[in-house]
Amino acid sequence: MARPVPWLVILCAGAFALPAASSLAADGADSVAVLVTYHSLSGNTEKMARAVAEGAKAVPGARVLLKRVGDVTGNDLFSSDALIVGSPVYWSNMSGEVKTFFDNWQLKFGVFPEFKMRNKVGAAFATGGQVSGGKEVTMLTILAAMLGNQMIVVSGGGAFGASATTEGDSPGIDDKELAEARDLGRRVMEVAVLVKRGARK
Ligand SMILES: Cc1cc2nc3c(=O)[nH]c(=O)nc-3n(C[C@H](O)[C@H](O)[C@H](O)COP(=O)(O)O)c2cc1C
Repeated sequence: MARPVPWLVILCAGAFALPAASSLAADGADSVAVLVTYHSLSGNTEKMARAVAEGAKAVPGARVLLKRVGDVTGNDLFSSDALIVGSPVYWSNMSGEVKTFFDNWQLKFGVFPEFKMRNKVGAAFATGGQVSGGKEVTMLTILAAMLGNQMIVVSGGGAFGASATTEGDSPGIDDKELAEARDLGRRVMEVAVLVKRGARK
């Protein structure tokens, strides 16, 4: 006959269990602010951005701001706990608008010398016309700009972030790609909750 589990063992197991990353609001802490920002000319990257935001919003405690890169203010940047940047692939790299956005971190918003984006969680997403046309390079260059700013970069969806192929045999954004984008938003929120909770200790 199986021996009954003593209550003390159950209580101890509960005390050492990892808290669910999504329970920030439930444990009475502040909300976590996520800025999802993107450039999009023909709407593909915007569609992915909306799905990323949706994924982040699904996590309790999330405050999500969705903006085009050209509309982001210094306050938007500095008041965020996490930042998710999306770009169309232009010549196997991020588009000029997204690069200008990063350049403006210093030119307009003066992130140095204090490293004002330090320890914020960062992630990337991209859309490109071709299957093998530079989506991963695009995400990696976005992550590289974040690493240079001493941010904590994470993936989600795919290995380097969420991405979608938009032309040829795979026009537009399909449900699998949207699901990947939602995964990215959720993952970034989960990590941002852990970082924020850790910083409060
Ligand atoms: C100037 C320009 C350069 C592009 N270069 C590439 C490329 O190198 N590789 C690729 O896969 N797609 C390339 N594309 C296609 C876009 O990345 C693709 O259509 C993307 O989904 C557009 O995003 P949007 O609808 O958000 O504007 C290029 C498009 C333009 C306008």
